[in-house]
Amino acid sequence: MYFLPLSCQDKVNPVKGEDVKREWLRRNEIVCICRGIPRKRFLEAIRQGAATLREINRAVGSGSGDCKGERCGPKIEALLHEWRRSEKNRT
Ligand code: FES
Repeated sequence: MYFLPLSCQDKVNPVKGEDVKREWLRRNEIVCICRGIPRKRFLEAIRQGAATLREINRAVGSGSGDCKGERCGPKIEALLHEWRRSEKNRT
């Protein structure tokens, strides 16, 4: 269960508040369960230039837990794919 920071809970506009809540949950979703690494850390690594699963694992520390990346590897690949697609649309 996630708890929102107070700054997110006191939004006056309930629709906007829901968007803030949803975005906060999305950014803090745990991608690597073994190491407890949230989605935002992976996105930071990708923004800083990590372009492959191996580079991301090295930058963030994922893939070295009990499952050796079996659970988080596909999710990281999906994040990379999503990032590349959004970058293509931006140009
Ligand atoms: S979930 Fe990332 S190493 Fe297991």
